[in-house]
Amino acid sequence: MKEKGIHLIFLGPPGGGKGTQARMIMEKINAIQISTGDILRQAVKDATPLGKTAKSFMDKGELVPDDLIIDLIKEKLSSPDFPSNWIMDGFPRTEKQAQYFDKLLKDINLSLTAVIEISVPDQILIERLTGRRVCKCGETYHIIYNKPKVEGKCNKCGNEIYQRSDDSEKVVKDRLMVYYKQTVPLIDYYQKQGLLKKVDGTQDINKVFNDILSIINY
Ligand code: AP5
Repeated sequence: MKEKGIHLIFLGPPGGGKGTQARMIMEKINAIQISTGDILRQAVKDATPLGKTAKSFMDKGELVPDDLIIDLIKEKLSSPDFPSNWIMDGFPRTEKQAQYFDKLLKDINLSLTAVIEISVPDQILIERLTGRRVCKCGETYHIIYNKPKVEGKCNKCGNEIYQRSDDSEKVVKDRLMVYYKQTVPLIDYYQKQGLLKKVDGTQDINKVFNDILSIINY
């Protein structure tokens, strides 16, 4: 498996721990993490045409249109120096994106190693997201469950940590509704392909990490 590369999709609700685990697994297996959410937030910050369009959807907790996301992924995967191990964090999120991704992978002779579904009940998700703090370097914290060593500062780079604008309770509830309607059908989609592996995301962060490593035999 290691020679061919490890190709993972992390699927799960907002706040399920996809980003946290993707960053930990990425370091462990020497992979790249492709977070469509991070790419879009950077585009918003840079006020690029993609960012300007995406912002209105993201602020409301809605999904950014499929075509824009598909173009973005196509561009990433066609890069000549794209590494052999990768983790898709937050993509695909609709059946249209998943079907497109299957086709794209087939065209470039790649297959998925596994689709990891990190499941967590709604009540915990709301608490996690409203208590989440992030750093511009990509690190993520929680005011109770994953505190930085120095209050308000990132452990890795020392910058101020802050709350994401879509982590208000109102927008979090809207994002959860969007997840159930548009992304949950992918659980069945990948189950039918024999790729789905479930992980209990309510466990301690390190236990979730170890469960994912055993799924990928690492
Ligand atoms: P995105 O950034 O992908 O947000 P999301 O899917 O809502 O996921 P989150 O980043 O909120 O959660 P996570 O699962 O990564 O949790 P985390 O590890 O941070 O997308 C944002 C927006 O961009 C979307 O709403 C949409 O508009 C747009 N978008 C993105 N991709 C798109 C696509 N493909 N198509 C269309 N639109 C797209 O953890 C959360 C908190 O919990 C943290 O504080 C963490 O420290 C804590 N935590 C994590 N694990 C544990 C644990 N085991 N125990 C206790 N606490 C934990």
